[in-house]
Amino acid sequence: MARRGEADPALDDDDAAMQSRYADGLTIRPLRNGEVGTVAAVFARLGPAARVKRFCGAKSRLSDRELESLSRVDAAHHVLVGFVGGDPEPVAVARLVRDGASAEIAFEVADAYQGRGIGRALASALAADARAAGIRELTATVCGDNPPAVSLLRSIGRSLRAARRGWETEFVVGLRG
Ligand SMILES: CC(C)(COP(=O)(O)OP(=O)(O)OC[C@H]1O[C@@H](n2cnc3c(N)ncnc32)[C@H](O)[C@@H]1OP(=O)(O)O)[C@@H](O)C(=O)NCCC(=O)NCCS
Repeated sequence: MARRGEADPALDDDDAAMQSRYADGLTIRPLRNGEVGTVAAVFARLGPAARVKRFCGAKSRLSDRELESLSRVDAAHHVLVGFVGGDPEPVAVARLVRDGASAEIAFEVADAYQGRGIGRALASALAADARAAGIRELTATVCGDNPPAVSLLRSIGRSLRAARRGWETEFVVGLRG
């Protein structure tokens, strides 16, 4: 937590504080448009293997253009960021890009925090936001063997379809019954 008079990166403006969710030591808040540093900080905490899974290929750095694109927030782009108490840096990001009644999602959790339920919490919050916005299905590309990602996708919707194309599997998560 931030000390008195010090900005808390998890809640560093009134708007973010009002829209944030907190459970089990994890604060989830929406990314603000252009918050490049937050996106870069989570990327910096991913090891090579996690980067391959997230971006479907090796990625040693994000270009300025990629950072700008990943930190865009507008009517079609919605991003959630996760913070853990006692750690000033963000630990996870989940993003959604809307296309009509469907939206593509992607998520990443810092290596040191994987396997603690953070990905699930963020993806569930993102799915709840999607439902509230009238989105009926989520799509996600999972590369290679990634049981946690598949398990997480299965847990956030009512149905799950998969179409494998070589190394990539395209998943469709149904949000309505
Ligand atoms: C995939 C990822 C986001 C999952 O986040 P996480 O915080 O590590 O995962 P969680 O602890 O929330 O667990 C998610 C689910 O995976 C399951 N799980 C965790 N480790 C597992 C493993 N080794 N094998 C099988 N299932 C596993 C959990 O039981 C949980 O299932 P549930 O939701 O049904 O309870 C995270 O591992 C990550 O960032 N990976 C690299 C990037 C990536 O793969 N992104 C996804 C593609 S866009």
